Amino acid sequence: MARIGVLASGSGSNFQALIDAVESGYIPDSKIVVLISDKPGVLALERAKKHGIEAVYVDVKCFHTREGIDNKIVSELSKRKVEIVCLAGYMRIVTRVLLKKFPERVLNIHPALLPSFPGLHAQAQAYEYGVKISGCTVHFVDDRVDHGPIIIQAAVPVLENEDNESLRKRILAAEHKIYPHALKWLVEGRLKVVGRRVKVEGVSQAAQVLVE
Ligand code: GRF
Repeated sequence: MARIGVLASGSGSNFQALIDAVESGYIPDSKIVVLISDKPGVLALERAKKHGIEAVYVDVKCFHTREGIDNKIVSELSKRKVEIVCLAGYMRIVTRVLLKKFPERVLNIHPALLPSFPGLHAQAQAYEYGVKISGCTVHFVDDRVDHGPIIIQAAVPVLENEDNESLRKRILAAEHKIYPHALKWLVEGRLKVVGRRVKVEGVSQAAQVLVE
């Protein structure tokens, strides 16, 4: 049974997609055992409670450094014997304190086709840049922001008449589709990292998904 911890700072719609995938059995032999948020009162915490998942708020004001915050998070995760960590709209940079504890076991979802448009407001960055195709990426987390080896990407074409908000929503819908795949593969032990490349055992097309 893979024990999963999720870190989120906001609405947690990606967290919900992971809950649904675990509850439906799409991700086998696994359990989301804790949701940790660095923001009080967010919907992600409510979603956890609704699904019987422990919801933990970490007050970052109690710590002076990122490492201090991550030490606290690692202790909350370890207490619950977490083995895999999913960042799902977690708006903080994680440190080696977390990464050392979970080597190649921390996933993140980013709302752009990395390496394009890392950082905040990626959807708006892509929209303003005028790209014709954007999308989203699930990757292993390393010690650089939005940088680790890529597991799966979905391409989302930019429609001629849409605005930034419409594109954001369509990318978010694609995020909900791909994040469960990546987590499933990790749980099933099917991901092999070779340099920057991630091989997915049993998947011929290393998962490029085109969402209309
Ligand atoms: C998503 O677009 C995710 O890619 C980004 O933050 C957003 C979080 O949305 N990192 P939600 O909280 O999962 O609804």
